[in-house]
Amino acid sequence: MKDKLKTVFICQTCGTRSPKWLGRCPGCGEWNTMVEEAEETAPAAEYSFPPSEALLYRDIKEGAKQRIQIPADEFNKVLGGGVVLGSLVLIGGEPGIGKSTLLLQVCRDFAAQGERVLYVSGEESLEQIKIRGDRLGVRDGELYLLAETNMERIIAQAEKIRPRVFVVDSVQTVFSAKLSSSPGTISQVREAANEIFRFAKKNNVSSFLIGHITKEGSLAGPKSLEHMVDVVLLFEGERDHSYRVLRALKNRFGPVSELAIFEMTASGLQAILNPSAFFLKERPAEESGSVVVSTIKGSRPLLAEVQALVSPTLFAGNPRRMTIGLDHFRTSLLLAVIEKKMRASFGGQDIYLNVAGGLQIEEPAADLGVILAVISCLKNRALPRDVVVFGEVGLSGEVRSVSSPLARIKEALSLGFETVLLPKGNLAMLEREDLPKARLLGIQNIKEASPLIFS
Ligand code: TYD
Ligand code: MG
Repeated sequence: MKDKLKTVFICQTCGTRSPKWLGRCPGCGEWNTMVEEAEETAPAAEYSFPPSEALLYRDIKEGAKQRIQIPADEFNKVLGGGVVLGSLVLIGGEPGIGKSTLLLQVCRDFAAQGERVLYVSGEESLEQIKIRGDRLGVRDGELYLLAETNMERIIAQAEKIRPRVFVVDSVQTVFSAKLSSSPGTISQVREAANEIFRFAKKNNVSSFLIGHITKEGSLAGPKSLEHMVDVVLLFEGERDHSYRVLRALKNRFGPVSELAIFEMTASGLQAILNPSAFFLKERPAEESGSVVVSTIKGSRPLLAEVQALVSPTLFAGNPRRMTIGLDHFRTSLLLAVIEKKMRASFGGQDIYLNVAGGLQIEEPAADLGVILAVISCLKNRALPRDVVVFGEVGLSGEVRSVSSPLARIKEALSLGFETVLLPKGNLAMLEREDLPKARLLGIQNIKEASPLIFS
């Protein structure tokens, strides 16, 4: 018998435990994340799997995992070809980004296919969900809704309804009465994930768990959930833009390279099947400082517009360097390369760089585009409208090969571009027969770009 409740301090970000309070977590270095929670003395719940036996590799049958698919092909693709029966998928994203909307749509599509679905919300009332569902065009079908936060009652309902698809929205709002800590604390979040995991495996139910992400990007505070689940998906985007990106961070049943792009509309999320066209649709005609780059997102190519603005500074001696959508340090490096290798001088100039549409480009293949955007603005001359560029640029101004040149070129051609400026190294490796109508200009150094493009 316990007479005193034992407590322990647990970091809400990484799960590190400490017997006393600490201002800074020794595990992840975050400040003010240690929260007092009741020490759980109960043993970790046991799984009742059949006793296991070691098998010879060649005797193991290739039991292809059974998947269920929905017509929304983009969602299946990110999961690696549909959702595996009995798997647990964690979907993380910032509040308001559209996680509930996405999952309700997925439930709608499963139900429309005749699957039995249970959607549990700890955040909204049934009426609120129904208002959203009406907007999303939810029709008849076996879609059950439950507004509940008590984990034991949720599982009891799930045992009764026996769905094939099970959604809990969100892991931060549900709690187990077995624990004394409040919802959202790391022990509650873990316990909830555990319960759902057990339910999913035992009954072979495809389960989805929604988790809010903090601004710093840790999954639901509890990063510790990531290793417990089969699949981790991230749903992200800029609040001020309508597009959203869904991608896999971890997938036990498929690749993590696929991503899907959606647009948030008045009637829910619509897959953007031609993202390049979407991101280029408002590109200005014949403007200096605008360059279209061919970049790779996930495993597929995407055309994006890089914009530069160079203007005399008001801050003599300390001009501004602002970038949105590009890596700030990498951009500073590229500006230094332009100054040194192309004898440009912008000591007295503010420089602003932006990727249109709120996109983020992380890969160095955009380097050449960034450089040309700056040069185009400095010269006040627009690039020809049919040019797309890609290539990594090194400190000597050399243009280096990048991955997947063929995919990048084909994407450009398919959108009506005819000229591609690319690394000479990439050009040398290409089979030209594939690209009869393309005008491919290979360069080795950034100095070669201007005469080709601005002549
Ligand atoms: P929501 O799915 O509630 O976000 P999360 O669950 O990630 O917190 O989506 C919130 C936003 O989506 C909200 O600001 C309204 C917008 N929205 C639309 O624009 N169209 C729609 O059809 C729906 C349902 C939501
Ligand atoms: Mg929500």
